[in-house]
Amino acid sequence: MRRPFVAGNWKMNMDLLSARSLIQALQLQVGASPRIDIAICPPSVFLHPIRAMLGDSSIRLGAQNCWSAPQGAFTGEVSAAMVKEVGCRYVILGHSERRHTIGPKDASGHVQGETDAMIAAKVKAVLEQGMIPIVCVGETLDERDRNATETVLARQIAGSLAGIELTSGRQIVIAYEPVWAIGTGRTATPEQAQAAHQHIRALLAAKLGAVIAADVRIQYGGSVKPDNAEKLMRNPDVDGALVGGASLKAEDFLGIIQGCIEAKKLG
Ligand code: PGA
Repeated sequence: MRRPFVAGNWKMNMDLLSARSLIQALQLQVGASPRIDIAICPPSVFLHPIRAMLGDSSIRLGAQNCWSAPQGAFTGEVSAAMVKEVGCRYVILGHSERRHTIGPKDASGHVQGETDAMIAAKVKAVLEQGMIPIVCVGETLDERDRNATETVLARQIAGSLAGIELTSGRQIVIAYEPVWAIGTGRTATPEQAQAAHQHIRALLAAKLGAVIAADVRIQYGGSVKPDNAEKLMRNPDVDGALVGGASLKAEDFLGIIQGCIEAKKLG
């Protein structure tokens, strides 16, 4: 059975003082041997101090991004080896806020515009460090309205995993995050989520073989909250959640973890 996995993507939020109290509250409830895997993914400059705050906690650490090259003249970037060295087990890659040319822009109108090829190179770098990439895929509202969801997912899975070979499905996590559901309060219905996850698993089976695909955890992400988590995760192919906004409040994040435990009948 796939072990469910709930991760919090803090994005560019939080300060160290608030992080400390959030982590204390989480640790108190999560305990030493939770029934599911749990991770938090703070901004990269906070990884090191937060690793120290976590101590021997069962809560794992993830980065939100890294660069594909091992070292060199890449001002402002961090390598996979660097995030590994500060204690990360996971690295989120290809989040829609890094892929897309739409979405929140800063005052200059700048967006990141990462391509599938860039993401594939980063996936390779993270795997080489023995960490687990959380590879995000998902369609925009326009693509869903044009019935292009399956085509987009196929293109993103093929492109983001191009040249990647795995020996086990445990080496990688996929996060299905429909762009129209991220930070909008609008969630995919449990049926929409299951259909997309099933499609992703079929794509993985075609690429990596059925045995490996059956072991890959596929998280759902996009406005997951305590009141919708359980229903979403009752789906057989939804193996957990990648949580943005609701991971910043202990009560909400714990509510989602609890929803997952109940959905998977692990309580
Ligand atoms: P959200 O973000 O939960 O705030 O919608 C999810 C994500 O972007 O990973």
